[in-house]
Amino acid sequence: MHITMVKKRLASGEPCRKCIQAEELLVKRNLWDRIDEVVWAEEADPASAGMLLAAKHQVQVAPFYIVRDAEGRETIYLSALKLIKERLQERPAARGDFDLAGARELLKSAPPMEAIRFALESFASDCAIAFSGSDDVVLIDMAAQAGLPYSVIVVDTGRLHAETYEFIEQVRKHYGCELHVTAPDAASVETMVAAKGLFSFYEDGHKECCQIRKVAPLRRALGNYRAWMTGQRKDQSLLTRGELEMVEIDAAFTGKAGELVKFNPIANWSRDLLWQYIRDYEVPHNLLHHRGFSSIGCQPCTRAVLPGQHEREGRWWWEDAQVKECGLHVAKDKTP
Ligand code: ADX
Ligand code: SF4
Repeated sequence: MHITMVKKRLASGEPCRKCIQAEELLVKRNLWDRIDEVVWAEEADPASAGMLLAAKHQVQVAPFYIVRDAEGRETIYLSALKLIKERLQERPAARGDFDLAGARELLKSAPPMEAIRFALESFASDCAIAFSGSDDVVLIDMAAQAGLPYSVIVVDTGRLHAETYEFIEQVRKHYGCELHVTAPDAASVETMVAAKGLFSFYEDGHKECCQIRKVAPLRRALGNYRAWMTGQRKDQSLLTRGELEMVEIDAAFTGKAGELVKFNPIANWSRDLLWQYIRDYEVPHNLLHHRGFSSIGCQPCTRAVLPGQHEREGRWWWEDAQVKECGLHVAKDKTP
């Protein structure tokens, strides 16, 4: 197999930005040595070798790659990620060598599907999709479409709606995926309930219960992975999620290799876009969404919202309306 990378040099003499990023990606993944030849398409010279190759293969973007196999057949690739996935034996990221800056640059304005592919190509089933039984099911749908191995974790707090349990089971069957359903530590729940009853969160806030029923089991589950993926979006809370990155190092949890990489592939999506996707792709969804529920958490701490109300207003509604986080998601330099 022979791989030619065609790069474009702008009239200014500089290589195009995408060409630089693609080369950096290949270098970071230790795959640069698999490119046998680089040919330049000079913007100012239509007769340059790269421009002639672009014309021959009717390609209008740069960079692109020509892969010639042993029989002389040529295949064109317009994406470095696709080239890596299909033709280069990817060397899995070694413990701790994930290039956060490179990934951020690459995914800055990438659509969710690209971010999910990237996460799964980088970590495969070592990346867990955190599925809460709500509209974040789109992550599973996209992972299934990507056709790459993936893992799913669900924290069963013991207080979810019956509809949510039914929906989680529906998703398991629909996608034929194994769900790692994790539960809180029984002794911790028993101690809390013995001391404060079953609804202590209405009296002294949701932090303690969330810590025991959600955060601790999630921490335990994430300890088996190197990366995770959430359905958080910036528009869920400008205050606590407004600066959400597509990819970050988790500020609250660690994974089996130390630092845990966290992907938020739909960070830049609006709620409307999310629901457009659910409708367009006929993605299964929690029936509570038809009854005015928007953001769905535990049953005693979630209620339906009125049209025009923000989705987070249905969560922990008896508390301060500004900060509604339970500790699963900690932004850098901020407390949950
Ligand atoms: S929370 O912190 O307020 O409870 P939210 O409901 O917005 O979180 O969900 C954001 C993302 O956190 C979800 O898309 C999902 O990835 C993850 N998540 C929340 N709750 C759970 C859960 N019970 N099990 C697994 N993942 C969850
Ligand atoms: Fe407990 Fe409510 Fe938090 Fe669920 S959302 S863990 S019931 S405080």
